[in-house]
Amino acid sequence: MTRTPRTARKALLTLHLVTSLGWLGADLVLLTLGVAVLRGADPDVVYPVAALVGTALFAPLSVVVWVVGVLSALLTPWGLLRHRWVLVKLLITTVMVLLVLFLLTPNLRAAGELGAALPPGDRADLVIAPTVSTSLMVVATVLSTYKPWGRLRRATPPPRRRATVTGRTGG
Ligand code: HEM
Repeated sequence: MTRTPRTARKALLTLHLVTSLGWLGADLVLLTLGVAVLRGADPDVVYPVAALVGTALFAPLSVVVWVVGVLSALLTPWGLLRHRWVLVKLLITTVMVLLVLFLLTPNLRAAGELGAALPPGDRADLVIAPTVSTSLMVVATVLSTYKPWGRLRRATPPPRRRATVTGRTGG
């Protein structure tokens, strides 16, 4: 469906921007907390906060971002599978949501419980994961503003040209 009224479309876009860029902000908070521990902050204090941000904000927001993103595509002329930039954003966001829900959130929960007992390798993971996801979100934002690569396929095939005896085309 592409005939969403103008005001409804603006409201949907506003919701999409607030949720997706809010998601990026929450990711930067997780990155900051992960780096803080590597720089000497108390893991018994910082990791429970990171676990709270992850479970109460970042994970639920990731599902909301996916749903609102898909609606922003389906309810506008952009479509979900019509433009390459939209499809790439869908793929990036889908992979990220799965990683957030099934990998990062359980790791953050464990870190919140273990605190200072969390092994160094797992501490590094809590910096690497938000670094990768923040980068992907920046890619998604750049794709959204530049909208590169054109369409996947034409919505309607071009009219067929009929050759006449004189060699001119017409219909
Ligand atoms: C399921 C994933 C997503 C889909 C299918 C999607 C789709 C779309 C579509 C179709 C628009 C145009 C809406 C309109 O013109 O009314 C849009 C705009 C936008 N999206 Fe997404 N999006 C997704 C995720 C994200 C993410 C993760 C981010 C950033 C973290 C993001 C950032 C933006 C921005 C900044 C715009 C505004 C672009 C502009 O108005 O020029 N989107 N998105």
